[in-house]
Amino acid sequence: MRVCLGAATMAAVLFAGACRRPVPPPEFRPVGDMKQMMNWVVDPAANVVWGSVSTVVSREGTEERGPDSDEAWADVRNHAAMLAEAGNLLLMDDRAPDRDAWTGFAHALTSAAQAAIRAAEARNRSALLGAGEQIYPVCLDCHQRYAPGLGPTMPR
Ligand code: HEC
Repeated sequence: MRVCLGAATMAAVLFAGACRRPVPPPEFRPVGDMKQMMNWVVDPAANVVWGSVSTVVSREGTEERGPDSDEAWADVRNHAAMLAEAGNLLLMDDRAPDRDAWTGFAHALTSAAQAAIRAAEARNRSALLGAGEQIYPVCLDCHQRYAPGLGPTMPR
C-alpha cells in the first residue's frame, strides 16, 4: 500500500514528495566526440588559464607577469569556468566510458578549475599559478588511464 495520505502531519508532508511521479531527465544532445571535446573545449580553456601567468627572466631581472586589467582577469575566470563545467560535460552518459575512475578525473578537473576561478576572482596571481599546476596532472592522469596512446608529451 502506498503511503500517500493527506493527513496534515509532518510525516505526510515528507511522504508527499516520494509520491510524485518521477520527471524523466532532459535529453542531452552531445555535439562533439571525445577528441573534439578535448581539442575544442578542454584544451583551449586550459591554455588560457596556463598562459595567463608567466615568469620572464632577462638580464634586467625576473618579471612576474599576469592578468593586468579587469578584462584580462575576467577572461581567465571565464575560461576557468568553461574548464570547470567541461568536467561535467565529460560525465554525460554518452561520453563517460565508466562510472568509476573517469568520474574521479572529471570531478578533479572541475575542482582544480574552480581553484582557478577563485584565484581569478581574488586577482591572486600566485594562486592562479598554483591552480594551473593543480590542473595539469589531472589531464595527465586521465590520459594515462584512458588514452595511453597520446604519449608522454600530452597535454601540450
Ligand atoms: C576524464 C578524462 C580526461 C581528462 C580529465 C582530460 N582528458 Fe584529454 N583526453 C581524454 C581522452 C579519453 C582522450 C582521447 C580522445 C580520443 O582520441 O578519442 C583525450 C585526448 C586529448 C587531446 C588529444 C586530442 C587529439 O586530437 O588526439 C588533447 C589535446 C587533450 N586531451 C587535452 C586535455 C587537457 C589539456 C586536459 C586537462 C586540462 C585534458 N585533456 C583532460 C580524456 C581526458
